[in-house]
Amino acid sequence: MPSPITRRGFCHQSFGFGLGAFLWQTLRPFWSPNGRRHTIGSASTGTTPLIITSHRNETGRRAMETAWEILTNGGSALDAVEKATNIIEVDPEDTSVGYGGLPNERGVVQLDASIMDGKTYSAGSVAALENIKTPSSVARLVMERTDHVMLVGAGALEFAKSWGFEEENLLTDRARERWLRWREERSDRDDWGPPDHLRTPGEPGTSVNASQAETHGTVNVLAVDADGDIAGITSTSGLSYKIPGRIGDSPIIGAGLYVNNDVGAAGATGRGEDVIKSCATYYIVMRMQEGRSPQEACEDALQMIAARYRAVGLDFLPGEKFVAINKDGEYGCATMRSTRVPRMTVANRSGLSIYEGTIAFPTDT
Ligand code: GLY
Repeated sequence: MPSPITRRGFCHQSFGFGLGAFLWQTLRPFWSPNGRRHTIGSASTGTTPLIITSHRNETGRRAMETAWEILTNGGSALDAVEKATNIIEVDPEDTSVGYGGLPNERGVVQLDASIMDGKTYSAGSVAALENIKTPSSVARLVMERTDHVMLVGAGALEFAKSWGFEEENLLTDRARERWLRWREERSDRDDWGPPDHLRTPGEPGTSVNASQAETHGTVNVLAVDADGDIAGITSTSGLSYKIPGRIGDSPIIGAGLYVNNDVGAAGATGRGEDVIKSCATYYIVMRMQEGRSPQEACEDALQMIAARYRAVGLDFLPGEKFVAINKDGEYGCATMRSTRVPRMTVANRSGLSIYEGTIAFPTDT
């Protein structure tokens, strides 16, 4: 097993810089890659308000722009994370979340999402929800308009429709074509059989050559507003080509998302089965409560998961990425094993930036 990384340094690529009063519009041109600034070894700056997303593409940037306007106009963290997530959920090009998400093994898109409001210690979630583009908004209604936390499947859809959400086909041509290719190649790489960590290399389910390999894409959005209140959302189409009805970590409070208004928030992407088993985001928030920075707490969770497998004699490192923020406006992210550093998009008074976190177990390939 490779050695854990010990370096604490990481890059912070800034696309805008705050000087006195922060004017969002003036920062937009700095998003250009030509404007990147690298500061090796610096820690995240702790200012509020703050909003981050695990997405680091153009849609993530647009989502952060919209959310920042909400936060700087006195809006709540809860409204900011919902609006930001909706922008990502309706993007048809994004095959990991909402509309355009990759379907289950039968070609049906089933979405999971959760929301947590630190101010009111409330949570809501939906799982295996079909035909609704914005599951995070349905989760918010579960949180605010029912005495429950989680609705699944047909019940979640019925609830959404009762609130006026329109049913739509979520399977885009792009996602359908990828699913059809996966179906033609699927024989040695589906989810039937023992879990990945109990399979030996080369055994069915562990193929790494698949042109349509399974993915766990997910979006996390976490924010602390000007009043110091914290909220978060995790939304996903889940594991691509999953067994119908499979629910990942994203809609499970304490797994895919956790918020504590006195401490901070954490979100997870990656192999949901491991995030569920480790209650990873609850663990991260507890570590922050014990004094760890968001960056250190994310790394602690990865080490904890790796240690659990070592404890049962397995050399297994699941693909996970964690993001976290604290009440002071500090942030961090870390991934389990990768050839590339994990990234997330950050908006705060210093501007809009791409933050690069750390890899717990760097790999060469
Ligand atoms: N982390 C997303 C999933 O496994 O469903």
